[in-house]
Amino acid sequence: MSTWHGLIDSDYRRWLPVTDDTPAVSLHEGNTPLIHSGHLSALTGCDVRLKVEGANPTGSFKDRGMTVAVSRAAQAGVEVVVCASTGNTSASAAAYAARAGLGAAVLIPRGAVALGKLAQAVRYGADVVEVAGTFDDCLRIARELAAQHPVALVNSVRNELRLAGQRTVAYEVVDALGDAPDVHCLPVGNGGNITATWDGYRAYAAEGLATRLPRMWGFQAAGAAPLVHGVPVAEPQTAATAIRVGNPATWEGAVAARDDSGGLIDAVTDEQIFDAYRALARHDGVYVEPASAAGVAGLLQQHARGGLAPGARVVITLSGNGLKDPAASLSDGYTPTETSAATADVARALHLAA
Ligand code: F0G
Repeated sequence: MSTWHGLIDSDYRRWLPVTDDTPAVSLHEGNTPLIHSGHLSALTGCDVRLKVEGANPTGSFKDRGMTVAVSRAAQAGVEVVVCASTGNTSASAAAYAARAGLGAAVLIPRGAVALGKLAQAVRYGADVVEVAGTFDDCLRIARELAAQHPVALVNSVRNELRLAGQRTVAYEVVDALGDAPDVHCLPVGNGGNITATWDGYRAYAAEGLATRLPRMWGFQAAGAAPLVHGVPVAEPQTAATAIRVGNPATWEGAVAARDDSGGLIDAVTDEQIFDAYRALARHDGVYVEPASAAGVAGLLQQHARGGLAPGARVVITLSGNGLKDPAASLSDGYTPTETSAATADVARALHLAA
């Protein structure tokens, strides 16, 4: 078995915008599990695989792009990286900046970031600023700061470095399956990941490493679905805070991925997202954060509408780890069962026969 040293030092290096002089700032991201879902396969009559991106070092797919962006920032002699984030990008930027000895400044929408992500950014030592506004406001400010000050913007907005890193998820899927799947489902927020994943499949096919291309099926939360409606949403609303984005920076890329792949970008309600979130944990043993269940909710919606061909091979990106947002689970119908420290009391509480 070969040892994994992260994306920059892997066989995927030749696809990444790095040179011999680029320091590899890595936490051994990538190479995440692709596991079969017996539950979703049985429900849909398809072959459904889960790409578990929560297994990345900071718990989300963002690490794939961040290793490239921060490595290049370090190479360029930048001292501080800046980003706007709904939480995961900030956690990842803060971690990779720490590893490179750089400063990280992160702008997050006040009160709208899951606690685990905030805790990560704080512990990795980032300068965290909670802005009284939306993610879209944070991104506007981050861009302006990067234009006016000597700091490197590490959002995926027009950031070829981040997107190039995020493309590697498609390479891993094709290498694991032997070819591209029929359908690739994923949650959509700012639009970068659907763009990068599609570009990755296309790059592999262009070199003959895949014989086919998947349809890209992206899903937004119904209260934050600008790409579905074709217009920005001023006050995006969803409990899946990671994808609470009203004006996606990579709008054109997301639309092109949809159209060029013959795919779709559709909306799913928070209720559908949370049902899928519970089912993934309960039936597949995979704990994701709520936003990450949007691809599953969307697949089930397509199946219910008769839009899914029986026997199709489907890959779903599960974008982030459930541990990032424990409140989403504990506020969701958990009441503690409390007993004394007597075995008989515990047995009774568990309804075990005497
Ligand atoms: N899933 C999770 C867990 C995310 O954190 C994000 C984006 C997405 C899906 C959507 O990906 O933006 O490329 O369309 N999170 C960004 C952030 C906005 O700041 O962490 P996208």
